[in-house]
Amino acid sequence: MSKLVAARPQIGIGGCRVSSRAKQLVMEVLDSNRLSAGPMIDRFEREIARLHDTRFGLFTNSGTSALQIALAALKERYGWRDGDEVLVPAVTFVATSNVVLYNNLTPVFVDIEPETFGIDPAQIERHITPRTRAIVPVHIGGHPCQMDSVLDTASRHNLRIVEDSAETMFVRYKGRPVGSMSDIGCFSTYVAHIITTGVGGLCVTSDNELIVVLKSLMNHGRDSIYTRIDDDAGKHGDALFEIADRRFSFIRFGFSYRCTEMEAALGIAQLETRDADLARRREIAGRLSSGLMPLAERLRLPQTKEGCEHAWMFYPLVLTDSTVQRAALIQFLEDRQIETRYLLPLLNQPAYVRRFGALEDQYPIARDVNRNGFYVGCHAGMTDEEVEFVVATFHAFFRGAE
Ligand SMILES: Cc1ncc(COP(=O)(O)O)c(C=O)c1O
Repeated sequence: MSKLVAARPQIGIGGCRVSSRAKQLVMEVLDSNRLSAGPMIDRFEREIARLHDTRFGLFTNSGTSALQIALAALKERYGWRDGDEVLVPAVTFVATSNVVLYNNLTPVFVDIEPETFGIDPAQIERHITPRTRAIVPVHIGGHPCQMDSVLDTASRHNLRIVEDSAETMFVRYKGRPVGSMSDIGCFSTYVAHIITTGVGGLCVTSDNELIVVLKSLMNHGRDSIYTRIDDDAGKHGDALFEIADRRFSFIRFGFSYRCTEMEAALGIAQLETRDADLARRREIAGRLSSGLMPLAERLRLPQTKEGCEHAWMFYPLVLTDSTVQRAALIQFLEDRQIETRYLLPLLNQPAYVRRFGALEDQYPIARDVNRNGFYVGCHAGMTDEEVEFVVATFHAFFRGAE
């Protein structure tokens, strides 16, 4: 490796630029002395809900906590029993399936589509049993799942749906925004996601009873008459007494999943630039795809299915050339400062193998993606020169591999 190559700054799988607008909004929070949920969180939640055509948004401290309370709220409402089953894709970030376990429910895995990595609607039905209660489709890496079929199967079998949209924001499937096609949609704003607040997650829903339960669940199971320090502001007489009487009332077992005004401030700043950022992600994805097209016999390039918009949280690839080891390619890229991640392997993870045994062979597409999939960055912080370098590095690797 030449010194020149080694000296290059890493081309990350995600980029983080804290803009001057973000700093200004965070300073507004600090100057206000109001750190716990207040006007910034209100604004952030309302905006996220509006952008996803839902009535309510709820900002939590992670995508995982958003998903966990989404399932908990549905479990409570529909009286699911411990051990009831929830269908999750066989390829996803581990949290999708972990939250099923946190709720004392049983994850049942469904194989995925090879081109978009979303749950394969044709595989769902055969995993449904009398104990199946819900499906959690995951919009992987910015691409919506085939929701028409998922919704159709769910309605025929009376199943609820939680969309795990941790990796996908602001885009539509056949005109409907991600997060709005189910009982509850969940996003993550962790580092390297579509927007990032450091840590954070959101639930969106249009169900005015579910939002009350969700709010309570993230606040220790409190009576949702009082979940913010000024919920009693401006109240007098009986109204004030009602709050005083109920605000220390814990009506279910909940969690401490709150976040602060500072994270919301970072989020609001990024909402203001979301269109430009999304356009840049699309431009980069387009350049990567055209640059890598000559290698399409050796690498499966990502696709955007008809009726779908793509948010490009990352740029996923699957090595299809059996003469090449993924490890060799990853090492070649990483040596040249191109950061990579494996493509969300789940079933082969030690904790999952210990708990569920060797399941991979029942899921051929997931097994292939676990062995040969990976992704590189596709975010607004990448320069044109970096994108060209990524393309050139892939070509250099395969030239050497010939
Ligand atoms: C598909 C998916 N689900 C859930 C999560 C969990 O989100 P968080 O890391 O914010 O808890 C992530 C992200 O990391 C994810 O990619």
